[in-house]
Amino acid sequence: MKKKLVLVGAGGFGREVLWQINEHCANEYEVMGFVDNSCDLIGRYVGGMPVLGDDDWLLSYDKEICVAICIANPKIRRGIYNRLKKNSLISFPTIVADGVVFSDTVRFGQGCIICLSTILTVDVALGDFVIVNPNCSIAHDTIIDDFVTLYYNVNIAGNARIHDYAEIGMGVNIIQGMTIGEGAVIGAGAVVVRDIPKNCVAVGVPAASRERERESRSRNRSHERIGKHLNDSDEMMSHFVFMGGVA
Ligand SMILES: CC(C)(COP(=O)(O)OP(=O)(O)OC[C@H]1O[C@@H](n2cnc3c(N)ncnc32)[C@H](O)[C@@H]1OP(=O)(O)O)[C@@H](O)C(=O)NCCC(=O)NCCS
Repeated sequence: MKKKLVLVGAGGFGREVLWQINEHCANEYEVMGFVDNSCDLIGRYVGGMPVLGDDDWLLSYDKEICVAICIANPKIRRGIYNRLKKNSLISFPTIVADGVVFSDTVRFGQGCIICLSTILTVDVALGDFVIVNPNCSIAHDTIIDDFVTLYYNVNIAGNARIHDYAEIGMGVNIIQGMTIGEGAVIGAGAVVVRDIPKNCVAVGVPAASRERERESRSRNRSHERIGKHLNDSDEMMSHFVFMGGVA
């Protein structure tokens, strides 16, 4: 028998998860609809499914029900979980789309959502409520803690460690053995070749904290200015030489 499932969050990611479940997990779940805290959505239809109510609707639900929290922001996701766990009839299954490739040595906690075209190789461990968007690859011995979000096309090499609440932007590459600190945000397109401290926003290739990146850009600008002065004075010198020559 199919399990009844409610999706929390009727935004873009919620609609993507709905599509993924209908197309790729339809044998397992029957989606009842969305729950969303935005008042103007309640009672309306999103992606063809009703918005049933807000968190309170789920808190007072009196039958066993599965819930997927489709909210990309790690801290908001954690807040919703903390509220909903008060209803012991709610369970938070891990949803893995058909076609995700992983070995039998991969471990998932509860409440994870693993989207299409992702590959997890061997001895990978995911904590609770990890979201992995489409087309990511996670290599051997990598550990991802709770409430982490990987956006599209993230590649993580072996032996990496991603701590709680980290957000890894789309197209990020993380080389082997790197640690991403708790709550760190890695900007889209970055390449991580050094450990990233907790709560740091890191961008660029190679990824550096935005503050360091700004400092290095302003250093480069002042080097450019000094270089320009040197060039200007070279120009002036040659001008003087030239003038001197005429004189
Ligand atoms: C890094 C990030 C979190 C910064 O967000 P923010 O704090 O709102 O930053 P801003 O847009 O105000 O930009 C601040 C500066 O950082 C730069 N910056 C922002 N994102 C950057 C990135 N990914 N790479 C390089 N530089 C970036 C901006 O150009 C700007 O530079 P400036 O100060 O010289 O003008 C965000 O831009 C990002 O990349 N998030 C990931 C988003 C993502 O992958 N979404 C996928 C949805 S499926």
